[in-house]
Amino acid sequence: MNNQDRRTFLKAGTTLGASILATSAFGVSPTIGKTAPGNEVEKSPPLVKRRTLGTGKHSLEVSAIGLGCMSMTSNSYNPPRDKGEMGKVIRAAFEKGITFFDTAEFYGPFTSEEYVGAALKPLRNQVVIASKFGFKYENGKSIGRDSRPENIRKAVEGMLGRLQTDRIDLLYLHRVDPQVPIEDVAGTVKDLIKEGKALHFGLSEASATNIRKAHAVQPLTALQNEYSLVERVHEHGTLDLCEELGIGFVPWCPVVRGFLADRFNEYTRFSEESRFTAVPYMAPEALKNNMALLNLVYEWAVRKKATPVQISLAWLLAQKPWIVPIPGTTRIHHLEENIGGTDVNFTAAELREFRTAFEKIKLIGVRASESAQKDV
Ligand SMILES: NC(=O)c1ccc[n+]([C@@H]2O[C@H](COP(=O)([O-])OP(=O)(O)OC[C@H]3O[C@@H](n4cnc5c(N)ncnc54)[C@H](OP(=O)(O)O)[C@@H]3O)[C@@H](O)[C@H]2O)c1
Repeated sequence: MNNQDRRTFLKAGTTLGASILATSAFGVSPTIGKTAPGNEVEKSPPLVKRRTLGTGKHSLEVSAIGLGCMSMTSNSYNPPRDKGEMGKVIRAAFEKGITFFDTAEFYGPFTSEEYVGAALKPLRNQVVIASKFGFKYENGKSIGRDSRPENIRKAVEGMLGRLQTDRIDLLYLHRVDPQVPIEDVAGTVKDLIKEGKALHFGLSEASATNIRKAHAVQPLTALQNEYSLVERVHEHGTLDLCEELGIGFVPWCPVVRGFLADRFNEYTRFSEESRFTAVPYMAPEALKNNMALLNLVYEWAVRKKATPVQISLAWLLAQKPWIVPIPGTTRIHHLEENIGGTDVNFTAAELREFRTAFEKIKLIGVRASESAQKDV
């Protein structure tokens, strides 16, 4: 499929996505807060299916996809977005059935948490808020990793204030600090959980060794790593490890920063300051080469009457029942399209056929399989 064909398809696909949403994607009418005949407040069924991260007393029920709130703030893909406008996106997500919101101290820094806290304050008991610590800051800028217990405690106090809450439902270490044993990090989070300031523990992009060590001190509910149709490095051991230990998996970058929505091509160039510049699969030759994968996703989108983004999210959801992608968006119509992905199903035969086809495409700019076992 050439660029023009893809764009024509995308237009049609988005309309299609919207019509799916209006009917079968939700399967139920949105009734939150509405008064039923007889004046009792109707208890509404969930609008988006639910999934469980982690096991036993460390498990956490969340919507099958969450909302990534990183790109709402200034250090990521967009110019800074207005807090009130992003509040509307966050609240719309909740109204459409999303209960899982992902942020971090690092995003902004600090502003993403402020946006999330303000938007979700009235809904606090109905949502799951995940945030991440692991850096130190000077003059409003990150100056490197810092997971010393005193810095974790300081970070969590700041988070609680910005998120306008008394607890963080899922507290992740954002990146492993090589100067601090992971057991000390897990021990500090364990204490925070005892104190009620955090409810569940997660890691992001940690090595298999560190996952095991941390889990032995404080069982992990989720691992948040990059995973998508483009970046599949964690199929080399990490997903198996999560299955073995009963840890949920939260893919970040599930729509490849918009690549799987046809937002880039070989002529796309990024400014020096752009976060995209450092991403190997966003380099011009990689984008040109990797279009073959996007074309394949388009074929499946036509076949399954969905949009490419919906196929991409549905494929992730089909890999394991304990996978919960967190696509990031600043636009309500993209949010609606993404939610529609939860209603696209693959048969086992389709999954095999799709995999056989995409594994034939040699992607440029993706990680080497051995790197899956290492801290990033
Ligand atoms: N743990 C970590 O180290 C880590 C790292 C990065 C991110 N994260 C988390 O993961 C979340 C998601 O990752 P990500 O934001 O890097 O990547 P992503 O979700 O793959 O892509 C987000 C980008 O895709 C666009 N997009 C989303 N849905 C779309 C749609 N339906 N149609 C067209 N464009 C669409 C968004 O633009 P629009 O705003 O225009 O929709 C945004 O620029 C983040 O928000 C953050 O919470 C974690």
